[in-house]
Amino acid sequence: MKLFTPFEIKTIKMPNRIVRSATYEKMADEDGFVTDKLINLYINLVKGGVGLIITGNALVHLSGRSAPKMLCIHNDFYIEGLKKLTSAVHEAGGRIVIQLNHGGRQCAPLFLGGDKPVAPSEVYEPIYKVKPRELTQEEIWELIESFGKSARRAKEAGFDGIQIHGAHGYLVNQFLSPYTNKRNDYWGGDEERRFHFLEEVYNSIRDNVGYDFPVMIKLNACDFVEGGVTLEESLRIAKRLENLGIDAIEVSGGIVESKPEKRPVRMKIDSPEKEAYFREFSREFKKNLKVPIMLVGGIRSRSVAEDILQKNDADLISLSRPLIIEPDLPKKWMKGKELSDCISCNGCMRFMKLEYVKCTQLEKKK
Ligand SMILES: Cc1cc2nc3c(=O)[nH]c(=O)nc-3n(C[C@H](O)[C@H](O)[C@H](O)COP(=O)(O)O)c2cc1C
Repeated sequence: MKLFTPFEIKTIKMPNRIVRSATYEKMADEDGFVTDKLINLYINLVKGGVGLIITGNALVHLSGRSAPKMLCIHNDFYIEGLKKLTSAVHEAGGRIVIQLNHGGRQCAPLFLGGDKPVAPSEVYEPIYKVKPRELTQEEIWELIESFGKSARRAKEAGFDGIQIHGAHGYLVNQFLSPYTNKRNDYWGGDEERRFHFLEEVYNSIRDNVGYDFPVMIKLNACDFVEGGVTLEESLRIAKRLENLGIDAIEVSGGIVESKPEKRPVRMKIDSPEKEAYFREFSREFKKNLKVPIMLVGGIRSRSVAEDILQKNDADLISLSRPLIIEPDLPKKWMKGKELSDCISCNGCMRFMKLEYVKCTQLEKKK
């Protein structure tokens, strides 16, 4: 099976093709420091046979806090705790990449000490019901630098690489998307200018970590809103990134305004046909690019995962919810299990509001 063949992303040597997609756990402490609970969760994923772990999204700048108890990396204070985390994963035999994020308009003022969220333009956000404040030139450069500095910290803390969160309607996606970027300056006005924020973020990261360190991105193949990023535009964004030297692209899609059936974390994936809901997009990425492609979204069965790899629709299989209920799904798949126990009910997301990420189906089984 191709699923259990090794794969390399620059210096990362994966024993198989299974990636744990970034999953916010709400398990850092109140100030965003690593906890033993979080370390244990990652060790269980390593023991379960995951080839590469991507952490939950980590905060690069205080103005971008999208959730409480998320991992933080916006200050050197955090390096020590993060070192503990990477050492534990490495000692257990695993590999770990940290996802860097700024929430932009998708942040509640409550998480920002009452301040207004910031964004490329003042486009109303329907979840928190706020109109963000437009970023100034100076602030934009400060945020770009914050991604670079956070990448430097990630390298110092021993991570095997970083992933830029460029999907799901967060700040990088907001700059890329004509739906949220209404600027008419260096940062917006046409496709090339909307790419500048990501380009400068990428360059700042490379200035800080060099070219030998794996730098990846999670990207929306489509925003699924009128006036948002389309597949055609997203392929051109990916091509630009490939030319810049990006090491892998994870294909996802959707923002908060997308219809529920078009969002990144879809429900009721109860047949093979509904699985891998971004597959047709990753197929196009594979056809048009040479860079390694990860596919995420609704992959539940071993045979679908294997088929994706066999048909060359992606190089890597990325999973979030299935690894919440079964951190050892890779080992189970290796032993012949076919279907993940995850029923895509999103109970994990609802429970998170109360405490931390946990599969509510698992609770019912007890
Ligand atoms: C509880 C939870 C937290 C998530 N946190 C993140 C995150 O921090 N960063 C991110 O890029 N995606 C995040 N996602 C989205 C997943 O990475 C993934 O794209 C989505 O759940 C679809 O994959 P799945 O069907 O395997 O769950 C999260 C999803 C869930 C369920």
